[in-house]
Amino acid sequence: MLPGMQHPTVLSWESMARLTTMDPNGSTIAGPTATLIYDDWYPALRSDRLRGNKLETAMLLDLPLVLGRRKDGKIFAMRDSCPHRGIPLSVGWFDGEHVTCRYHGWEFEPCSGQCAAIPSLSSFDKLDATRIFASAYPCVEKDGYAWVFIPGAGSGRRKDIAELPALPELPKFSEHYRSAHLTADLPCNVDHGIIGLMDPAHGPFVHQAWWWRSRASIREKTKRFEPIPEGFRMAAHAPSGNSAPYKLLGVYGQPIETTIDFVLPNRRWETIRCGDKWFASLTTVTPVTASTCRIDVVGAWNVFYSVPFVTSIAKFFGAKFVRQDQVTMIQQAEGLKHNPSLMLIDDADKPAKWYFALKQARLEGSTKHPMDGPVELHWRS
Ligand code: FES
Ligand SMILES: [Fe+2]
Repeated sequence: MLPGMQHPTVLSWESMARLTTMDPNGSTIAGPTATLIYDDWYPALRSDRLRGNKLETAMLLDLPLVLGRRKDGKIFAMRDSCPHRGIPLSVGWFDGEHVTCRYHGWEFEPCSGQCAAIPSLSSFDKLDATRIFASAYPCVEKDGYAWVFIPGAGSGRRKDIAELPALPELPKFSEHYRSAHLTADLPCNVDHGIIGLMDPAHGPFVHQAWWWRSRASIREKTKRFEPIPEGFRMAAHAPSGNSAPYKLLGVYGQPIETTIDFVLPNRRWETIRCGDKWFASLTTVTPVTASTCRIDVVGAWNVFYSVPFVTSIAKFFGAKFVRQDQVTMIQQAEGLKHNPSLMLIDDADKPAKWYFALKQARLEGSTKHPMDGPVELHWRS
């Protein structure tokens, strides 16, 4: 052991049992489920899929959604279930103003969910259709995603968007930039998706490639972390000298600084700045169901702005990178089926421990933070 390194403590996965539990019905799921964080924004799908009078479906936190875009451009997300008899509204019709249920033709205004018409009502009926609401959720377009606010059970009537927590946003540091996005379904629960995302030790093994790094390039790292509200920041520093993309930025001959923030429920922001050149990404790991999740990465940059094909090249390498994580998690899901006991070690798994502690605090409605100030972590990667 090197001087100054703490003896690694091994923390049993069982201490997170409240967050990672087995489905009582067992066999239908690939791996353990995770406790989900409600009352927050999650990306449902790319918003350019919402056009014309098409209805699209998505699943977020085990909630089936139907999404679309009204004639006036506003996007909406409703529970994909008619409040009358539960048939999916997505099999019905949309004329740009109202969603009509395929079963008995009830019509709904999709942003509010308010029922506008019940065709079967006669002059003898006293029922006021407009007092009936289908479930509709706050839905906003940002950075090319349709973000949906998923309320917890029993959190009451839908709130005004102004009263909700702020929508996460990809920062941009210049007027002109390029951007790209990637998505991958992961067969594991959101906790595994997130700790895989923040895990510093898998890089040299999972992401081996000539253009990134190899096992042989492993070296000792010291990184400074500081607490931020509901998350932590890997403070600005010169990034890994052993990875090629960062070396490329060196051509600008300016000091390079990167910041990586993780914030609940599922967000990782990375910003790399080199003089007036910048690269920024927002990665989210969104629970699709309690046992599966999806990773979405949206990036923007003005680096090599004038180089042709740079977006396709970035997408190609980005896709390879995400695919490597995805393949690893598919293999991991195979092992997790049998619910093995697992470990979190110091210091490489410290961010994962902070994540679990932050999540626990959020679930308990407390603002307790697992860090009481900045710390340095050491690992080899
Ligand atoms: S089930 Fe939708 S109108 Fe009856
Ligand atoms: Fe990775």
